[in-house]
Amino acid sequence: MPVSTPTIATKVSTVPRAHDETSYAEPDKVAIAALKLDLKLDFDSKTLHGSAEYGLNWKDPKATQLVLDTRDLNVESVEGGDGSGNWSPLQFALAPRDAVLGSKLTIETPTRPSKVRVTYTTSPNASGLQWLDPAMTEGKKLPFMFSQSEAIHARSWVPLQDTPGVRFTYTAHIATRADVMVLMSADNNPKAKRNGDYVFDMPQPIPSYLLAIAAGDLVFKPTGARSGVWAEPAMAGKAAHEFEDTEKMIATTEQLYGPYRWGRYDLLVLPPSFPYGGMENPRLTFATPTVIVGDKSLVSLVAHELAHSWSGNLVTNASWKDIWLNEGFTTYVQGRITEALYGKELADMERQIDQTELAANELKELPPQMQQLRLPALDGADPDDALSEIAYVKGAWFLQTLEQRVGRDVFDPFLRGWFDAHAFQSATTDAFVDYLKKNLLAQHPDAMGDAELDAWLNQPGIPASAIRAASRGFAVVDTARIAWLGNGQLPTSQVTHDWVTQQWVRFIEGLGDTLDVAKLKQLDAEYHFTGTPNGEIAMRWYPLAIRSGYAEAWPAAGEFITRVGRRKLIMPTYAELAKTPQGLQFAKEIFEKAKPGYHPLTTGSVQALLDKAGTGK
Ligand code: BES
Ligand code: ZN
Repeated sequence: MPVSTPTIATKVSTVPRAHDETSYAEPDKVAIAALKLDLKLDFDSKTLHGSAEYGLNWKDPKATQLVLDTRDLNVESVEGGDGSGNWSPLQFALAPRDAVLGSKLTIETPTRPSKVRVTYTTSPNASGLQWLDPAMTEGKKLPFMFSQSEAIHARSWVPLQDTPGVRFTYTAHIATRADVMVLMSADNNPKAKRNGDYVFDMPQPIPSYLLAIAAGDLVFKPTGARSGVWAEPAMAGKAAHEFEDTEKMIATTEQLYGPYRWGRYDLLVLPPSFPYGGMENPRLTFATPTVIVGDKSLVSLVAHELAHSWSGNLVTNASWKDIWLNEGFTTYVQGRITEALYGKELADMERQIDQTELAANELKELPPQMQQLRLPALDGADPDDALSEIAYVKGAWFLQTLEQRVGRDVFDPFLRGWFDAHAFQSATTDAFVDYLKKNLLAQHPDAMGDAELDAWLNQPGIPASAIRAASRGFAVVDTARIAWLGNGQLPTSQVTHDWVTQQWVRFIEGLGDTLDVAKLKQLDAEYHFTGTPNGEIAMRWYPLAIRSGYAEAWPAAGEFITRVGRRKLIMPTYAELAKTPQGLQFAKEIFEKAKPGYHPLTTGSVQALLDKAGTGK
């Protein structure tokens, strides 16, 4: 008799795993295959106005409606086209706004037209767009705007089937003021003339969350034959220097996982209000300026966003509950690129920071079912909130474990095979498990059994068998810190002069929950943490300083969370301030001043945190 083994996916559900509960669309009936945008981008009204035309693929012969996702759009008219240039009006209904999903747009299409066109205007408060006045830019002369569509914000600037399960090609015509440059997640021309009239073509099919646009005083600097940076003139030189290894990163990733399939790979450096570190918009990664610190120590962000050109953009999570297929795989690949270019020591330092922080934060704070890689249905939840370090760090850790068990000679071709077999498609965790069993575990049954597989995918926490990263670069840091805490003697500049950001992060994270103010002052006198231009250091130093009652750090902390809008960097300082009445008062004052410069996502997160603190909950 065979011994019974625990099975994966025990929950019985009639809803297929690929179903996306965060979209109203019904892509099994009809799917958008091609999108044609014709939009006027108006800085005065902070709106996009024009039309979105869809080439449709009718799948269900009985279907009579096209259902789209929208949020805060003013829909003016809807027409059906026969493909020969004849358009006629269609009836439509815009449902009341749901706080998370927006408004369902139902279009009556009794004749199943091959084309549908929607004419609309966006709201100045579109959740997926930020409009910046000239004063909020580096150059202070021209206004700026950019999109952030992931997870479900594309619907706030284009009516779409806003789900990662649908892919479409697109073309766009964008008209705006003549002195502003416009870029999209498409075939940006490094030599484009600035004239206010731009056309784009994206021939590879993409899911809606990768639709992107940016406009401002943007200039181009090459970093290689098929790569470069776009930035405001004052930033372009610094950015091109920081990101000078981009071409090598592309070549390294191609070696591992096959050709880069998207043509050019450029980076766009955004203003400091960009709410994320990076966003993998195809052909044009959007990046925070906070990683430009001068010593290239934070360029694994580029490795990460570039890696998405395989994990995510090529093979996409079918729904947001399988986000680890995007972010976990990408974090794994990021580590491989960092290791190939900058060595195992730096890659291990980053893995170790990730793993330590996961244990200190997410594994303590998240409810058990949100600690699974294979997340339960997000019924009613905002997918932006479903995303945690679990997807990134636990996901990458799972793949690292498999890699270590079978060896890179086996694992690298396996992973490449996964990307190739699912290129330009969406996938579920269950599809990956099938693929893993057939193409890796069948040949290497000792690598991982069903029980351990189940622990990684369907259980909270990290399996005890996981191998923890341990970097040599941290041994020297830990030794120096312990010596100082014991004898008051800080490490000499001979020891610290070549420490990279990750080592300073480690130094600070090991200082404990609080520290004597005298000790914090000694650190400041020597290393000037208060006022640091490095956001990775600031996001860890200020909370420690505030917790320890080091009031002298408050003004600089306030300045930091005003100047920067990247959520990950500033939320810990807001959270620490909000713990005392006096701190909460200060946080509220800072927020009022900073709000006009924040992205809607950042405003929402800070507001929620302050509201919660205010009610004592
Ligand atoms: N795709 C993500 C950003 C994202 C995820 C936006 C989910 C909205 C919803 C991007 O690739 C990312 O992970 N960025 C990280 C940087 C990275 C180095 C870990 C970030 O912004 O911090
Ligand atoms: Zn990512």
